[in-house]
Amino acid sequence: MTPPDPRRHAPAAERNRDPILAILVRVLPPAGHVLEVAGGTGQHVVHFAAALPALIWQPSDPDEGARASIAARVADSGLANLRPPVALDATAAPWPVERADAVVCINMIHIAPWAATLGLMAGAARILPPGGPLVLYGPYARGGRHTAPSNAAFDADLRARNPAWGVRDLDDVTAAAAAAGLDPADVVEMPANNLTVVFRRR
Ligand SMILES: C[S@@+](CC[C@H](N)C(=O)[O-])C[C@H]1O[C@@H](n2cnc3c(N)ncnc32)[C@H](O)[C@@H]1O
Repeated sequence: MTPPDPRRHAPAAERNRDPILAILVRVLPPAGHVLEVAGGTGQHVVHFAAALPALIWQPSDPDEGARASIAARVADSGLANLRPPVALDATAAPWPVERADAVVCINMIHIAPWAATLGLMAGAARILPPGGPLVLYGPYARGGRHTAPSNAAFDADLRARNPAWGVRDLDDVTAAAAAAGLDPADVVEMPANNLTVVFRRR
């Protein structure tokens, strides 16, 4: 009997990986180490590592099944600039990665308690050099309002699944980043009412 395939697949990751990559090309340093927090299936990190070979990519996720999916995709890729995943919970300091030139976190902060956002900001501030970017992608409210009916429905669905989850307001996220030592650098409107948000270490 063949063992079950550990690779997970998220259709959204196929759709958003190229729009996100177009921003990463612009905001990441030309070379160095990139930590991906909440890697999930591993689809993003394989795509980004293939497209940006001068960067060394370190995926992570706290979930064992996610790490198995990422590990299988990393092995399949054969990419020399892509590391096996590490177990990293944004809320648990210290992180197993002590330094990175950039941190990327896609679709995590609304599907985790607010403490994960605070942990992400604190951790990114600890490991980034001055000017190093933290790149977030996902849905956000702005000025206390959802930006689209679909985001309002998604927020209600998230909160029904777990009251600690929910679409965050960009103002709250920006304030949490500032308190941790990360300044706002860029907000880019993305397809399907998502944003890419870039902070840089002070
Ligand atoms: C919706 S998935 C997104 C996965 C992937 N980034 C994507 O966009 O396809 C959310 C991910 O956040 C991770 N996650 C949840 N809480 C976390 C935490 N405290 N620290 C780091 N990752 C967390 C989960 O394990 C899961 O893989």
